[in-house]
Amino acid sequence: MMGAILVTGGSGQLATALLKAGPKNEIRRVGRPEFDFDRPETIEKAIASQRLAAIVNAAAYTAVDAAEDDAEAAFRANRDGPARLATLAASAGIPLIHVSTDYVFDGSKGAPYLESDLTAPLGVYGASKRAGEEEVLAAGGRAVVLRTAWVISPTGRNFVRTMIAARSKTDHLRVVADQRGQPTSAADLAAAILAILHQIESTGWQERFGGIFHAAGTGETTWHGLAMAVFEEAARHGVAPPEITPIRTEDWPTRARRPADSRLDCGRLSEIFGLRLPPWRESVRGLVDELFNGRPH
Ligand SMILES: NC(=O)c1ccc[n+]([C@@H]2O[C@H](COP(=O)([O-])OP(=O)(O)OC[C@H]3O[C@@H](n4cnc5c(N)ncnc54)[C@H](OP(=O)(O)O)[C@@H]3O)[C@@H](O)[C@H]2O)c1
Repeated sequence: MMGAILVTGGSGQLATALLKAGPKNEIRRVGRPEFDFDRPETIEKAIASQRLAAIVNAAAYTAVDAAEDDAEAAFRANRDGPARLATLAASAGIPLIHVSTDYVFDGSKGAPYLESDLTAPLGVYGASKRAGEEEVLAAGGRAVVLRTAWVISPTGRNFVRTMIAARSKTDHLRVVADQRGQPTSAADLAAAILAILHQIESTGWQERFGGIFHAAGTGETTWHGLAMAVFEEAARHGVAPPEITPIRTEDWPTRARRPADSRLDCGRLSEIFGLRLPPWRESVRGLVDELFNGRPH
């Protein structure tokens, strides 16, 4: 790339995966306190600090339940910060890849969502992310908004790590079985983001590259299905499978409501960029192996 790729998001799952996936001299990752959406002057500084080829915004307020009681912070990080970033990227004439979420939908469609479907977030997190998408697109620059879902990775806070940690404390897990979605490996998403940027660089920016794209792991499951897959793989590493009881959403009350079926149709990503994320089930296998030190038994 001509210049570095600025990756926001500190030690977050996606920022970490991007750092790992990209050539070392190509990725410049920034995080708090040096880059903080709560201190807008740090945004300017990060962009002015060197010649950038592109920006990937992987920073976000991602605590879905906490956001219900902390809307101002969620909107600062998910709407106001990205808006500023997009304005700066537009005036610098460089592409911005902004990451968003399946939680912009209410999950009532009953089929995979298209990018053109109406959004209807159920909570503050989803509403703040939707507001961020709108700001990023309104800035008028070379913006690609990637909506992803159910991010899993070997680091940070995610469902796969939570399940494995829970197993060491109990033989019996209860897991929600009536929410459908697509687990997405941060490493797979990072690879897709780098492929998009290289494509933009090689052909030059084209209008069709702009706008919203759905980018989630291929296939679908429920949280219960994901837990089953995790322990099928963990069994190869000597972990005795726990009993996993399927439960309903109402049996696991949370502060924020979540969409019952937020499957994303990823056809546009494939049509415009020729990209399709790997099947989630294969990515879970690789991830569990990595968590158990890369030693399949
Ligand atoms: N996790 C999921 O299941 C999921 C699902 C759908 C979409 N997404 C989207 O995917 C993207 C990446 O998510 P992720 O899973 O990598 O999230 P993550 O692991 O929670 O990382 C997000 C990072 O954002 C940074 N951050 C938070 N508030 C900030 C602020 N005010 N200013 C600057 N940085 C701030 C934090 O970095 P430091 O504290 O280290 O600076 C944090 O590590 C986000 O846009 C998210 O909305 C995630």
